[in-house]
Amino acid sequence: MLIFQLLVDKPQYLQQVATWNYEQWGFLRPDQTLTDNVNLFNQRLNYQLPVTLLAFFDDILVGMASIITDIYALGFGDQPMLNNVYIAKGYRKQGFGKLLVMEAERRAANLGFHSLFLFIKDQSLVKFYEFLGWKFVRYIIFLEKYNMTIMKKDLL
Ligand SMILES: CC(C)(COP(=O)(O)OP(=O)(O)OC[C@H]1O[C@@H](n2cnc3c(N)ncnc32)[C@H](O)[C@@H]1OP(=O)(O)O)[C@@H](O)C(=O)NCCC(=O)NCCS
Repeated sequence: MLIFQLLVDKPQYLQQVATWNYEQWGFLRPDQTLTDNVNLFNQRLNYQLPVTLLAFFDDILVGMASIITDIYALGFGDQPMLNNVYIAKGYRKQGFGKLLVMEAERRAANLGFHSLFLFIKDQSLVKFYEFLGWKFVRYIIFLEKYNMTIMKKDLL
């Protein structure tokens, strides 16, 4: 069974999630070091936004997702953004990613938000999110270079 906890309650995993983030998305921000990533997640040791959610399977950390404000100024105002959705290699394709996104949605709703948005670079993931009820919003060019898809989920 997958167990979810906030990074603020398990700060010993800060280095691991920062490393995942750096390895997976560091190419988007080549100016940022692993230490910058550690600092970023250090700012997410909260119960309110920005927060990072951890997923554990048999007490092993297998995934993370963050709920953050619109730091990229994509025009979503006060609505939060789902960010850094990640399942560790070796634990993928077992339904964990789906459960992680659903848990992040639930927690965003519990914090009082009516919708969540995200942007993705990998077009093949559009289907993954559509399956979970997310809708296409528009395409953007991120950092003047990367084609990204913005998607949105209305929370009940
Ligand atoms: C994207 C990611 C979180 C999915 O996690 P996962 O645990 O493998 O996903 P699930 O097993 O819950 O998959 C749910 C469904 O989506 C599909 N799916 C998962 N990853 C997919 C992908 N990359 N492309 C297309 N479909 C995908 C699965 O086949 C599955 O469909 P099914 O239920 O019909 O079999 C994981 O692959 C990952 O961490 N990737 C690297 C980081 C990344 O790209 N994150 C997304 C940023 S927004």
